[in-house]
Amino acid sequence: MTTYQLQDYVSDLRRVTRDVTDESAIIDRVGPLAQRLVADRTWVRPEYYECNEAQGFGVHLLHEEPDHSLAVLVVNWLPGRGTPPHDHGTWAVVAGLEGEEHNTRYRRVDDGSRPGHAELEVMDDFVAAAGDLVCMKTGGIHKVVNETDRMTLSVHTYGRHVNHTNRRQFDLASKSCKEFLVDIAGD
Ligand SMILES: [Fe+2]
Repeated sequence: MTTYQLQDYVSDLRRVTRDVTDESAIIDRVGPLAQRLVADRTWVRPEYYECNEAQGFGVHLLHEEPDHSLAVLVVNWLPGRGTPPHDHGTWAVVAGLEGEEHNTRYRRVDDGSRPGHAELEVMDDFVAAAGDLVCMKTGGIHKVVNETDRMTLSVHTYGRHVNHTNRRQFDLASKSCKEFLVDIAGD
């Protein structure tokens, strides 16, 4: 069986985003490729399991173009840890690599006209296992929590590296939002 390595995936990402510009079309094509990448696993390195204890999750950058487009990252979550609700500022395709990640997706219900203010309501709630996809267009909001007793890992592909999109994290209780930057391993 032929392997499907990171360089094969990056070549395909470049081809797809050259051929189509519509986000839904990009996601439709990238999703099955991301599933092929996580099914292969021969490219997975031990350091991808290294976590940032303070952050609760570890982020390992596998690829980005010189202009920060087409970012591919492995993210791992410690048991019981997760993210706040957040957007990405670009399209996102997440493919489960190991374990089960609890996703909650939200919709924005205010009009975004008040800086720092945001009201969200839950749209849906589901568990994404290894091989499953979680896909969002620009503006899609979700949170991820590892409710299991083992580390979970997933491969995240973004139209642009999320530390370069001015994306937001949301606080439901205070109905507020602010910048969301993540610590990348090795930075
Ligand atoms: Fe996310």
